[in-house]
This record gives sequence, structure tokens and C-alpha cells, in this order.
Amino acid sequence: MNFLWGVATSAYQIEGAPQNDWTAWEASEKLKATGVPCGKGAGHRERWQSDLSLLPTIGANAYRFSLEWSRIEPRPGELDESALAHDRRIVEFLGRLGIEPVVTLHHYTHPRWFWEEGGWERPQSVSRFRAFAAAVANALGDRVRLWVTINEPIVLLLGGFLAGLLPPGKRSFSAAAAALRNMLAAHTEAAALLKERNPSARVGFAHNMLDFAPDRADSALDRRLAAAAERLYNLALLEAIASGKMEWSLPGEGRASFPVSDLPAATDFVGVNYYSRVHLRLRAAGKPIGEFFYRDPAGRGLTDMGWEVYPEGFDRILLLAAGAGKPVLVTENGIATRDDRRRRDFLREHALILEHRRRAGTPIEGYFHWSLLDNFEWLEGFHPRFGLFEVDYATFARKRRPSADLFASLGRSLLSPDETRGVSVSAAGGRSFGAPRT
Ligand code: FCB
Repeated sequence: MNFLWGVATSAYQIEGAPQNDWTAWEASEKLKATGVPCGKGAGHRERWQSDLSLLPTIGANAYRFSLEWSRIEPRPGELDESALAHDRRIVEFLGRLGIEPVVTLHHYTHPRWFWEEGGWERPQSVSRFRAFAAAVANALGDRVRLWVTINEPIVLLLGGFLAGLLPPGKRSFSAAAAALRNMLAAHTEAAALLKERNPSARVGFAHNMLDFAPDRADSALDRRLAAAAERLYNLALLEAIASGKMEWSLPGEGRASFPVSDLPAATDFVGVNYYSRVHLRLRAAGKPIGEFFYRDPAGRGLTDMGWEVYPEGFDRILLLAAGAGKPVLVTENGIATRDDRRRRDFLREHALILEHRRRAGTPIEGYFHWSLLDNFEWLEGFHPRFGLFEVDYATFARKRRPSADLFASLGRSLLSPDETRGVSVSAAGGRSFGAPRT
């Protein structure tokens, strides 16, 4: 398979939805950016053809996008065939452009009815997701080879069931553990269906991974906290994929342990969403036991999300992901900034690490930059700018940023059949980069 070089989006963030759990969440003022509903996102629903036509202009050979469950199944068991036909047109259009689709079934949003009937905590969620996946497999399965079932299950669980920041807004370890069990089962069943429909289908998760560091390097307690975070956030899912056994624990909150024996065979690749590093510090008393911070020791400046830019961590994370014993796809990586020079630095530095890892023999099969367009950034609303193309939200006009050209030139180097070439960082006007941490 050729190395996949592309960009990633998610349906809700670029086109909104008439009614799902997020539209309800926004209305109940749960966002940091209050009073700014997602609406039509970046207006992509009406502009999908011209947006997708941008892909060949940035040298992409693949495109990761998601489906909106609430559009496809607006009421339980009732499919909207026109929504499926729309997704089919997208896949066919990509085919005509020579772009490999990578389809995410679930990227954070749910139909409201899904939560009304109990959501991920209830075993019924598995059959609901299976039925949704079956409808999608019927509509698109013959044309799509690469699938992400669930985007960032661990983030969804921590944000939605432990921190109460995302729908359904709970704070309960036992609810999170029940949801985890059902999500893994839903992934496994959806994978079986997709492969039945198309034997060449390959299925994975998109797993958000962070680099973790103790806030006080000399504090044994901070180090233990960083190790616990690594296990809960990064490793638990990888180890479950490798071993068929899930061990998930949050110090002071609870521990879940259950077999997932079909998970290893149901998972063909590990998708990695990598953005940053966090520093962890144990709290003197009370809950939660720790606090996390984005620091900026290298002085690069935090991003507009307040995140550290830490390309060195990308190397370690790629190695960690490969430890699951499956090929790795970088399903997201990007930076929120209005200063496009910073985006270009970010791209160059992460592309260098990527190339270094590939040459060292780590089985990495693709890279997807987040994102094609500026879009609705969940709790943050519209202020973070992640796009290779800028969006004017008053008119929905798109403007190409110089980083789009850099993306294309890095792609030409990375995809070059001449393996001695590698990333031509100097041609791209880049700066040199120190040895990554191993
Ligand atoms: C990831 C999400 C994606 C986007 C980026 C910035 O965690 O998967 O939707 O919000 O962060």
C-alpha cells in the first residue's frame, strides 16, 4: 500500500447537524465559547464538492472524514436514505479524484435519542451501533477500505463520563467503565460487519495520545502520576488491542478489568491523534488527585488552544502506538494558530519525526493533518484555526494558507519513490531539528 498523505475532518465540525447531542449541549451553554452554536460549521455541506476539489491541490492521496449518525438515523431504526446517498456521493467523488477515503463512523456526536435510551452505559448501545454500521456498510462498504469506528474513545469517556465536560456530562467511574466495555464491543461488531461486506476492509480506532511528563521532575509523586496517566490514557487501549484484555484504572476512582478477546482480530491498525504534551502535578489534598498543565520550556509559544508544541513527543508516541503490534496511521496532527508560519514550523518538525520513525522501521502507513479547513472546535467554538485553508465565517469563503503549499511539497518528498530523498526540509525552508527523545 502507498503511504497515505492526507488531511482529516469531522462532519459536525465542518457542516454542523440539524439536531444531535452537541446542538443540545451548545443550547445548554456547556461550551467555553458560550452563545456561539456550531450552526453550519464551516458551511461544508453546501460546499463539499469545491472543498474536496482542494485535496489534489495539496498533494493529498487520502482523506479522512466522518459520518453524522444523527443525520443517517434521525430516529431509532429509521434510516434517512438521502443522508446515506450524500455520503455515497462523497466517496464516489473522492474515487474520481483518486483519493483514498478513510471513513470515521463516530466522531464525538450522537443522535439525541441514543442518550435518551441510556447511551453507551447500556448494552443496547452495542446493537444500536451495529445497526448503524450495517446501514453504512451497505451504502459504502464496497467502496471504502479503511475505517475508523470510534474517534478517541478514551477522550470521550474522560470528557463525557468523568469530567462532565462533554455529552452526556456525567462524573462516574463506573458509568465510564460500562461505556468503555460497550464501545469496545461496538467497535468489534462493526469491524466484523465491515469486513463481511468487504474482505479487504481494514478497521481501527483513532486514539488520542499525549506525551506525559511530571511537572516537578524531582517529585516521585508527580512521576507516579505521569505514569498512571500514561497507562489510563495512552496504554490501556493499546494493550487491550494487543492482548485481548482491558485493564483501566483511575487512581482514587476505580478499576475496570475485563476480557475483550475479539478486539485484537477486529483491529487492523492503530490510528494516532497526536497534538501535545502535558505536565502532571499531584495535588496536596482533595479530588481530583492531580492537575495538568501545558508548559512551554522550549519557548516555542503555546498554541491558540493553550497546548504545548512538542514534536519530540511525537516520536515516543509513535513508538508506543506501534507497541500494540499493528500498523500505525497518524489519523490527526495539527496546530491551532492564526500565524501560519507557526503552522509551517509545526508541519516540518512533525514530518521530520514521521520520516525518522518510518526509516527506523516503525510500520507507519499514513499521516493525516488536522485539518483541511478551519472549523468548529467543540468547547472552544470557532476561535482556534486549524486549517490549511482559512475560513471566513461571515461569507464561508476559503483562502489558501501558505502551509497548504508546504503540505504539498512535504508530501512530494515523503511519497517519492526514491527512498533516499526523505523529507526535503531545506527545500521547504525549514530549520534543523535536534535528536528526538527515545
Ligand atoms: C481532536 C479531535 C478533533 C479536533 C482536534 C483538535 O482531539 O478528534 O475533532 O477537535 O482534537
